[in-house]
Amino acid sequence: MNTSIIELKNVSKTYSTAAGDFPALRNINLTVNSGEFLGVVGKSGAGKSTLLNMINGVDGLSSGEVIVNSGGQRVSVHELSEDEKARWRGKTMGVVYQSFQLLPMLTLVENITLPMDLAENFKPRESRERALELLRLVEIEEHADKLPAFVSGGQQQRVAIARALANDPEILVADEPTGSLDSITADHIFDVFSRLVTERGKTIIMVTHDMGLRGRFTRSLTLTDGELEMEVTAAAKPKRSRKQ
Ligand SMILES: Nc1ncnc2c1ncn2[C@@H]1O[C@H](COP(=O)(O)OP(=O)(O)O)[C@@H](O)[C@H]1O
Ligand SMILES: [Mg+2]
Repeated sequence: MNTSIIELKNVSKTYSTAAGDFPALRNINLTVNSGEFLGVVGKSGAGKSTLLNMINGVDGLSSGEVIVNSGGQRVSVHELSEDEKARWRGKTMGVVYQSFQLLPMLTLVENITLPMDLAENFKPRESRERALELLRLVEIEEHADKLPAFVSGGQQQRVAIARALANDPEILVADEPTGSLDSITADHIFDVFSRLVTERGKTIIMVTHDMGLRGRFTRSLTLTDGELEMEVTAAAKPKRSRKQ
């Protein structure tokens, strides 16, 4: 399937600071197809978080267009009001952060039922069942009734992924989701994302500064100083002449 689910057209973002204007994104053009696991790789300060915040509408763009075509709805994200954006994001896009951001006073399962109850997509009785099912999917169901502080970072990130799936969005965006984990745990978390793409048909955009992950996405692009590298299609790649 090759349907475009996210389109960025000439997206620029300039932050105005006391020190002057800072162009964090310059003229980004990007089409993400349904079912892709897209990696955006770049150094710290390249504009990765800014790019995700344009896609999920957490921050407004300076110019250009962001169009998301999900659940039979084609939405110009930049044209929605704040309220509309929050509602739209809740059902369209799950967000996973480097720092997990679970609510510390809620158990793991309650962290997942909360967004469901807020969106009122499921009956309260269904939401616990569904939350447990999601915890099973990320293989942490046995800790369901613990508080976040009583499980490891990798386990908290599994819960954060389950929470991102709470309202069954087609799209997940992840901002350095393995950035604070040791390499073995990071590997397991990466596998969870991979399975969501291959087994559940999710579309995932992950940003990372870890160049080593580049080969593991279905497609990866590099962001440098706010500019996204042009994609080189197979046909346009120069052929290497073989040494005799
Ligand atoms: N709210 C902001 N105000 C001013 N500058 C910002 C703001 N957010 C990010 N920046 C700057 O924009 C650039 C890109 O930031 P960011 O998107 O966070 O990069 P990355 O996620 O790749 O590390 C950095 O130089 C950063 O200092
Ligand atoms: Mg960042």
